[in-house]
Amino acid sequence: MYSSSGDSNGYHQDNKQQFGMSQRDRVRRVRAKSRDGFGEEQKVTPCTEFDKAYFNSYAHVGIHEEMIKDHVRTNTYRDAIFHHQSLIEGKVVVDVGCGTGILSIFCAQAGAKRVYAVDASDIAVQANEVVKANNLSDKVIVLHGRVEIECIKDVEINEEVDVIISEWMGYMLLYESMLGSVITARDRWLKHGGLILPSNATLYMAPVTHPDRYRESIEFWRNVYGIDMSAMLPLAKQCAFEEPSVETISGENVLTWPHVVKHVDCYTITIDELESVTTTYKFRSMMRASLINPRVPVLPTVPSNNSPMDGSQRKKRTNPNEALVLSTAPEDPPTHWQQTLIYFYDPIDVEQDQLIEGSATLTQSKENRRFMNINLRYSSGGRSFVKESVMR
Ligand SMILES: C[S@@+](CC[C@H](N)C(=O)[O-])C[C@H]1O[C@@H](n2cnc3c(N)ncnc32)[C@H](O)[C@@H]1O
Repeated sequence: MYSSSGDSNGYHQDNKQQFGMSQRDRVRRVRAKSRDGFGEEQKVTPCTEFDKAYFNSYAHVGIHEEMIKDHVRTNTYRDAIFHHQSLIEGKVVVDVGCGTGILSIFCAQAGAKRVYAVDASDIAVQANEVVKANNLSDKVIVLHGRVEIECIKDVEINEEVDVIISEWMGYMLLYESMLGSVITARDRWLKHGGLILPSNATLYMAPVTHPDRYRESIEFWRNVYGIDMSAMLPLAKQCAFEEPSVETISGENVLTWPHVVKHVDCYTITIDELESVTTTYKFRSMMRASLINPRVPVLPTVPSNNSPMDGSQRKKRTNPNEALVLSTAPEDPPTHWQQTLIYFYDPIDVEQDQLIEGSATLTQSKENRRFMNINLRYSSGGRSFVKESVMR
């Protein structure tokens, strides 16, 4: 059992005391297992002011309440843990970003020998209390720090682990850039042949139409209590549509089959691959006649993600041997991730069967890698548009 102080209730905050090592020593000693089996030096990842603000945001109860009350999310994780019970029982698990400790506790309930529950946010203090209150301190070791290596507060686990579990998915799958931390944990601690939950995830996009939103946010200004406030329109469009918008739509808003923007295999993906993702797409609108309306805004891209809890791509699980999929698609039950919409400032009309093509590039912002720059190119019916936006 890993322990800093000799006892096994391990709430560990200051790893310098644990190991009596300088930061440089630690960085030098930490070697990651590359996929081909040769050792390579683990990158030092500075903890920026943006990272500190990010971890502070997770110190508030509301964000955890929202995630835990997302029953689609939390039940799928619990089901996945018990579905993989034979691979968890008696094994060592690391929960990357444990928050309140809920997934770590599910793993302990599934019979894990030891769970390292890691979180850099101060929510780790509460996670430790929750673990104690559930008499699981002998199994769940809360480590308050980052999985990356830079300073004495970053955590170290002195054994290989059999399982990594993490709820890392952000809006539009990649926003928040937490997947990099799971990759770091994988390369630092996962045994060869170990299990990662979820094992893979897919980001999709599709053009959608959302006339109600356009009416409520934009058309509204044309007549306000009988006053012509059309002068507000440019500002209203700017404010409503400048940034990607996280909202819930339904399958009926979607005009075509989705296109895969990025498939992430959690066993093989690298941090570098996540810096920028580009896809080219071609859609044929399947819009029904009733939707071919001059006022219908065509609003490309509904990024949504599916995160299978094993290696399969199947959308729905019909028997216990199939993949469990946590879907955030508009046609599936809503989750707190909702969908991310990128609106054009003005509606674009499309006919049924009209070809829509272009590209989408998602790039981690240089200013703050947790922000996402989005470049969306769109051509259809002889017209072309480019929309640049930043998800902050
Ligand atoms: C989306 S929440 C999930 C919380 C919890 N696992 C759950 O399912 O309710 C992600 C958590 O990961 C933590 N986190 C993100 N990046 C981290 C890192 N590099 N090192 C440690 N914790 C991290 C955040 O502070 C946050 O509490």
